[in-house]
Amino acid sequence: MLAPFALCGCSGVQSALDPAGDESAIVANLFWVMVIGGAFIWIGVIGTLLFAISRRERPVSDAGAGRLILWGGAVFPSVTLLFLLAFALWLMPGLRPFATPADASMTVEVTGKQFWWQVAYRLPDGSRVAAANEVRLPVGKRVEFALESDDVIHSFWIPALGGKMDMIPGRRNRLSLLATKAGTFRAPCAEYCGTSHALMAFSAVAMEPSDFDAWLAAQAEPAAGVSGEGREAFLRNGCGACHRVDGTEANATIGPDLSHVGSRKTIGAGILPNTEAAIASFIANPGAIKPDAKMPAFGALPAAEIDAMAAWLKGLE
Ligand code: CUA
Repeated sequence: MLAPFALCGCSGVQSALDPAGDESAIVANLFWVMVIGGAFIWIGVIGTLLFAISRRERPVSDAGAGRLILWGGAVFPSVTLLFLLAFALWLMPGLRPFATPADASMTVEVTGKQFWWQVAYRLPDGSRVAAANEVRLPVGKRVEFALESDDVIHSFWIPALGGKMDMIPGRRNRLSLLATKAGTFRAPCAEYCGTSHALMAFSAVAMEPSDFDAWLAAQAEPAAGVSGEGREAFLRNGCGACHRVDGTEANATIGPDLSHVGSRKTIGAGILPNTEAAIASFIANPGAIKPDAKMPAFGALPAAEIDAMAAWLKGLE
């Protein structure tokens, strides 16, 4: 009776049951077959119970009870479970294919941090494009993800595209995904990693290959409009000690790369909409938005200075 309400949560940007990737389509298929198989078993059990209740006044014969146990208690569940097991095993080879250099269009390195995501696109020609808190990939091309962590265990999960993979300090785990539909999906960290675990997410954007190529080429260059008062304030206040902005002397990798922060769907790793006001509030007091974030608060600066930095950052597209 509650199913329609429970299933309302099955569509949307963060659902494994609204697949936009080859692996998530297999997962969704398996889920529905298991649900239907489970429903048959449930109906069988409840039917047997109702039958037993209805016969309370007229007990079944020993032979009848034996048949009921044989067919209802042994044959039916064995056949159903055997079918479900066979189906799951049959699906398995299609899950978790390892991308070979021949079929992976590129490698995306994603490193989990408390509480954000460092991203780097490794292209076949050896070049590297840095980003953060957003992963883009071309539709119809297999992409290999190389997953690491610097601090604690995080878990990389884009429900609309595929299953989870842990990010473990000292290891490089590999996962390959193939997006089958363009769209923007939400990807939450799927392993408790500290106070702001629930505030650690990123956007995954699947784009048509030509759009993706143009986007990546633009990411590899400094954003336009790298000048002005906001830029001076950013550098003067030492933001470059943690962040990198391509085209300026800010070149650190402790915090998220901000070279094209203005073009991202969200800021604060999936927490706030990407607006000047949200960027200004994050600069003023990151800990109020994301408890235990390592970035210090800059709320003591004049509001005009914070606003200028926010406007400049938003303009880095
Ligand atoms: Cu990172 Cu939970």
